Amino acid sequence: MHELLIQGGIPLRGTVKVKGSKNASLPIIAASLLTSEPVIIEDVPDLLDVRDMLAVIKSLGSEVQYNAIDEIIHISTHSLEPLEPSRHKVQKMRASFLVLGPLLARFGQASISLPGGCAIGSRPVDLHLKGLTAMGVKFTVSGGLIEGKTNRLQGARIYLDYPSVGATENIMMAGTLARGTTVIENAASEPEIVDLAGFLNSMGARISGAGTKTIRIEGVKELGDTRYAVIPDRIEAGTLLLCAAVTGGDVTVTNVLPDHLRPLLAKLRETGISAEEVDYSAIRVIGSSKTRGVDLKTLPYPGFPTDLQPQFMVLLALSNGTSLVTETVFENRFMHVDGLRRMNANIQIEGNRAVIQGSSKLSGAPVKASDLRAAAALVLAGLAAEGTTVISSVDYLWRGYSCFEERLRKLGARLERFYPENREQVEA
Ligand code: EPZ
Repeated sequence: MHELLIQGGIPLRGTVKVKGSKNASLPIIAASLLTSEPVIIEDVPDLLDVRDMLAVIKSLGSEVQYNAIDEIIHISTHSLEPLEPSRHKVQKMRASFLVLGPLLARFGQASISLPGGCAIGSRPVDLHLKGLTAMGVKFTVSGGLIEGKTNRLQGARIYLDYPSVGATENIMMAGTLARGTTVIENAASEPEIVDLAGFLNSMGARISGAGTKTIRIEGVKELGDTRYAVIPDRIEAGTLLLCAAVTGGDVTVTNVLPDHLRPLLAKLRETGISAEEVDYSAIRVIGSSKTRGVDLKTLPYPGFPTDLQPQFMVLLALSNGTSLVTETVFENRFMHVDGLRRMNANIQIEGNRAVIQGSSKLSGAPVKASDLRAAAALVLAGLAAEGTTVISSVDYLWRGYSCFEERLRKLGARLERFYPENREQVEA
């Protein structure tokens, strides 16, 4: 795994364009399995998770061309087979589980490994299986492998005990080719769900209500071809805006949909930071040395996104006063706190709540990343801190941020990626 060395204390300034959404791209790539016609997907960022998802559908017989420079994928699944996707990939990346609904819809059968848990929690799939079972699938689970079989998926009315993003996506994809109508109640309403529905409807699906708590899917006989561009990544946008906030800089992010960032913008303003929409697709944040601590609770959309909680905590660690962060989505999403404490942050954890006594300074230190958004938080802390920070296991970053260092350098950041054995040369 690489390490990242950051010289902190430099205010970031300039303009940066946000790339396409990882969490819209992954389900949309999985959804390409629902049609035997060619599919073109645009604005797909070059991420490790994207490459892994493409490897999963290739292992099922899909033909894939990915032009990483132009961020365009061409997929053809006319020679798809109901094989078991690589266990290693499914264990490594939970989103691989999103091929389950499409395979059941296409072939009436699927075998897939239970996804691995990860640093932020056990992350079960019971809601996925409960919804698909209601649609007529018989599942058997043995040795960590799930086998599903159905003569034909039947439309059903499904209430999700929790508005799970992945379960909503798997059931919605399965419903597109089911007999009759499927209604998902208490559905997830994230922008990525709306984008997946848009993609499916562009192939001829009949989905309504995406983005609300109730989604209706009228099954059709087959889906056709399409060319579709994914939405901008709201979590990458939020991470870049927080880079300005924590370094006292002045950054404008372009190619954003401000409506997708309402909770972040509101919370930034509550701390006293200026966060203004420059026009319908750009936002400017000007950092300040006098920010106030605020309380924060993560919730399903449209609440504050859990994927920005680690990054926002860095700002709270630098703000005046006491802040309370409550993480309600994942059971263990404070893995970044150990690293922040090493950098002089004063944070106490009590269950799913963290109490932050803000102070004006963080100091650089050697820290270790544990997952994608924790890595992002440690980068923000390194940019804000006085002195040098070295982040080990920083490869997690490239699961969800493309060309991230280059884009931070363009904003004035001083950082260098290296292998641990080469550290002396870089520090010299
Ligand atoms: C998606 O994960 C995102 N990943 C996550 O982003 C994001 O944090 C999460 O939604 C919440 O917004 C992708 O879209 C690829 P969930 P997902 O199912 O679908 C529990 C990132 O950093 N649950 O809404 O796995 C689960 O344990 C990643 O980009 C069940 O109990 O999220 C968790 O506590 C991290 N049973 C909560 O629901 C189930 O069957 C939210 O999970 C499914 C989920």
